[in-house]
Amino acid sequence: MKDKLCVMSVFGTRPEAIKMAPLVMELGRRTGIRSLCCLTGQHRQMLDSVMEVFQLKADFDLNIMQQQQTLSSITCRTLQGMDAVLEQARPDLILVHGDTTTTFAGALSAFYHQIPVGHVEAGLRTWDKYSPFPEEMNRTLVGDIAELHFAPTQANAANLRAEGIRGEIFVTGNTVIDAMKTTVRDSYRFGVPELDALDFSARRVIAVTCHRRENYGEPMEQIMAAIRQIVLTHPDTEVVYPVHFSPAVRECVFKMLADIPRVHLIDPVNVVQMHNLMARCYMVMTDSGGLQEEAPALGKPVLVLRRETERPEAVKAGTVKLAGVEQKQIVKLAGEILDDPAVYHTMAKAVNPYGDGNACGRIADAIEWRFGLRREKPQPFDPQG
Ligand code: UD1
Ligand code: UDP
Repeated sequence: MKDKLCVMSVFGTRPEAIKMAPLVMELGRRTGIRSLCCLTGQHRQMLDSVMEVFQLKADFDLNIMQQQQTLSSITCRTLQGMDAVLEQARPDLILVHGDTTTTFAGALSAFYHQIPVGHVEAGLRTWDKYSPFPEEMNRTLVGDIAELHFAPTQANAANLRAEGIRGEIFVTGNTVIDAMKTTVRDSYRFGVPELDALDFSARRVIAVTCHRRENYGEPMEQIMAAIRQIVLTHPDTEVVYPVHFSPAVRECVFKMLADIPRVHLIDPVNVVQMHNLMARCYMVMTDSGGLQEEAPALGKPVLVLRRETERPEAVKAGTVKLAGVEQKQIVKLAGEILDDPAVYHTMAKAVNPYGDGNACGRIADAIEWRFGLRREKPQPFDPQG
């Protein structure tokens, strides 16, 4: 007979790992819970880097990554790998995070084995099936499968209610804010020559990332052309761009930007390096989901290089602007931030609409409540509180 509640966290990409790490650690501290970690390995190096930073060990690793993998191969390899893991471990609850194909296939596999699913970072929506692609549909489908929904914000919870979703909804805040409690340090040295060589007080550093599938091709070329124009017309700026390992991304980025000395194209950095880079930079340009949540908490203006966002809270708060994927508009908005101090200062205010650093405690409490280990439901995250 099991004496503890067995909770298995399944994740496979960099952002899931960063946002699940503090939760895995919190679950490990709960005496009534046995916490297991199953990696799909959808991202090999970028996932291992997060595991190393947070000193986490995997109990299972499906090691599915292939070069230029397709969505079908990620899904099939995850489903096939999960069968044996779930038959062996028989967890009481599976946790998945967010909107990746690991998330979807992990939840589907739990459903096939009739194991309840908890969805961390539930309820974000653009309402456009193909943007972000395939993430919008991944997240929506997992919402249908899950019975515990951990929505970061009240607006995310309202999206789920509007869909008449089954199960319990908890407003928890985003776990990424929990992760940031341990990463950003004043006295930090990067240990990456290109980053240690930067003088953040002499030049305005723009931190850039861009990797989304719907931006492959023409949109990414427009974005890179915009970055080129911005840096060439602002001699006091430097761009630091840790380039995602995806071959489709690297080909475009190096072709468009490699010849500019004030543009530093480096390999992906670890999460501590990335958070400290953002904490010291002037502004952020990105199509990443996670950066849209982290940069506002650090008081950095963000231009989002996408047509839409499922994270409207920081746009409403004024620290994030949706720039689209056309060169002209991106250059215009970046110019306003770089050339008009009033615009910059309005955007550069630290806001935390996404969390208060206590999301993991609320999620662990909610799990304990659901399984009868605790009487009270957790109080919802309140950004004003
Ligand atoms: C995936 C997620 C996306 C998330 C992003 C975070 C899906 C469909 N997409 O997209 O939601 O925003 O991760 O970064 O789940 N590669 C390596 N090493 C690594 C990681 C990737 O070599 O550590 C290369 C491989 O060639 C791989 C390719 O990058 O085939 C693309 O990786 P994949 O996970 O398919 O897509 P992402 O664009 O990373
Ligand atoms: N990140 C990192 N190293 C990098 C670039 C990003 O650690 O070189 C972190 C970033 O701080 C954030 C997460 O990775 O926590 C975001 O991941 P990504 O942009 O790959 O995915 P998304 O959030 O768009 O799904």
